[in-house]
Amino acid sequence: MTMQIFEKILPIKDHISGLKKEGRTIGFVPTMGALHDGHISLIDKARKENDIVVSSIFINPIQFNDKSDFEKYPRTIEPDKEKLEKANCDILFAPSNEEMYPEPDNSEFEFGNLDKVMEGKFRPGHFKGVAIVVKKLLKIIEPHRAYFGEKDYQQLLIIKKLTNILNLPAQIIGCPIVRESDGLAMSSRNARLSKEERESAVKVSQVLLKTKQLKGKMSVEEMKMFVENEIKKIPLIKPEYLEIADSTTLFPVKNWHNSEDTMAFIAFYAGKIRLIDNMRF
Ligand code: PAF
Repeated sequence: MTMQIFEKILPIKDHISGLKKEGRTIGFVPTMGALHDGHISLIDKARKENDIVVSSIFINPIQFNDKSDFEKYPRTIEPDKEKLEKANCDILFAPSNEEMYPEPDNSEFEFGNLDKVMEGKFRPGHFKGVAIVVKKLLKIIEPHRAYFGEKDYQQLLIIKKLTNILNLPAQIIGCPIVRESDGLAMSSRNARLSKEERESAVKVSQVLLKTKQLKGKMSVEEMKMFVENEIKKIPLIKPEYLEIADSTTLFPVKNWHNSEDTMAFIAFYAGKIRLIDNMRF
């Protein structure tokens, strides 16, 4: 069956409510386009767990704290549609800015520590913009389940909290990072890396992988210093933050015994391109 494409809210809401009345379950994969295998893994999971798969492509202007990042964000709608069709996505929602924001939305949410650290600290306003658009999308699509990649792990925790705050019924499902064969976490921004920048970026993921094997041999502080020193040696890489934090609260972990599940989070520039990665330690 060919994928149905909707650009307007009312027709897609009507269509999905009809499907739900027939008893079909809806799985939703929101995206900003520039689709890669990481996104397709979310579609595949939604495909397995639901009768109908809906995806959205909307480059949400209010979540970009840096105007030039928004302007340079890859826009690849035609190949994206083909990839979604190939992955058996049933419905695509591709609204305009005017459709999503007929009026400015200034909603504020209280996420506690979750939006104060890491991406929240270095990208002011970013999570506010993400929360507003995800709230709108979940209210439009009203899925049974919505799928988000763990590469944006902090975003995933914030979206889980958002659905609790708003009592939205959608189950939020996190899916593992998909990596290139050399270890680089897939990201729409990878398309903008030069050959040299990409070579350097992959080394950051490799440092994290190598360090993970050393857990048990070092204290948290030693491990952090080890990663920082290894990363200093990589050309073209400027780290923005490196945190070793608890996977539920995102508070920094000082001692392995104080956290049941510890993760390393990093943001860095490869040349001018800002990337993030994380790994369970
Ligand atoms: O992760 C993304 O692609 C975006 O932040 C999302 C969740 C689609 C909201 O614009």
